[in-house]
Amino acid sequence: MKINDLQALITDTNSISLSNSIELYRSAKPGLPLLVIDSPLCNAVLSPYGAQLLEFKSKGKAPLLWLSPKAVFEQGVPIRGGIPICAPWFGPHPTDSHKPNHGFLRNNHWAVESVEEFSNGEVKLDFLFDTQNTETKTYDYYFQIKLSMTLGESVKLALTVVNVGDAEMPFSWAFHTYFAINNLDATRVTGLTGEEYLDQTKALSTCSQVDDITFTNEVDRVYQEVGEEQSIRCDREGTVIANIKGHSCPSAIVWNPQTELAAKMKDIGPNGHLQFVCVERGAVFNDIWRIKPMSSMTAGLILQ
Ligand code: BG6
Repeated sequence: MKINDLQALITDTNSISLSNSIELYRSAKPGLPLLVIDSPLCNAVLSPYGAQLLEFKSKGKAPLLWLSPKAVFEQGVPIRGGIPICAPWFGPHPTDSHKPNHGFLRNNHWAVESVEEFSNGEVKLDFLFDTQNTETKTYDYYFQIKLSMTLGESVKLALTVVNVGDAEMPFSWAFHTYFAINNLDATRVTGLTGEEYLDQTKALSTCSQVDDITFTNEVDRVYQEVGEEQSIRCDREGTVIANIKGHSCPSAIVWNPQTELAAKMKDIGPNGHLQFVCVERGAVFNDIWRIKPMSSMTAGLILQ
């Protein structure tokens, strides 16, 4: 999306300005356009590339999201942190390892369809991506996807996918949220206790989640048909870092790479894993969406 188009969209709003990742994050080169929100209720930074919320802080609270200090702001590379959208497949492509991990939506520019400010102080942005306009070679199906973000005291996301082709479309996806934490040893995730999960660190073997999730080793777990709500807590400080509520998001994925893997990942780096946990919600593995021709499916997520 062109800077001029973005500028035209935000001229009537008081809370939103346009910046460039080079100006906001000094190490970012060559740079991407970013939307910066400073409203009565929150501060946020968003990227139309990937339709990705990068930073979010409701006024008077700690930052909710982690954005890697080593994130790359360059076409073709996913931005590490915030809430990337993984779709239309999750993880490696099922049959072609040359295709990008977690699909192509986090590596492409979305159109900003509208920007609104409400009298209650919330700001709403609608992002659109249409495979018929922008992506014809990477996927066998045609779809339109709309992501609405409402930012205020909480983050509200609404996702709608329309299958505009003539065959049933498999659609696997996740809101891949990176939550900011201060103390990995004292961090635990509640709301998945008692569930079975597929352990991605053990060739997808099925395991049982006996207690709350803690992060003493690499954690890469896929939970299916989960309940709507989870929380991230810090035991040492006795605080709730985030409450997560998904609607039509049957799966949860919990990920932290731990010391060795983090050090190998260029955009995380040594000890970067101490600053975040990912608790993702979406529809993956057996929970994958199958959307009939000319039909749509929707999902929502609230973070606070
Ligand atoms: C998680 C996966 O969702 O994303 C992990 O479960 C993966 O297996 C992680 O390593 C990060 O993926 P990427 O492509 O952003 O490096």
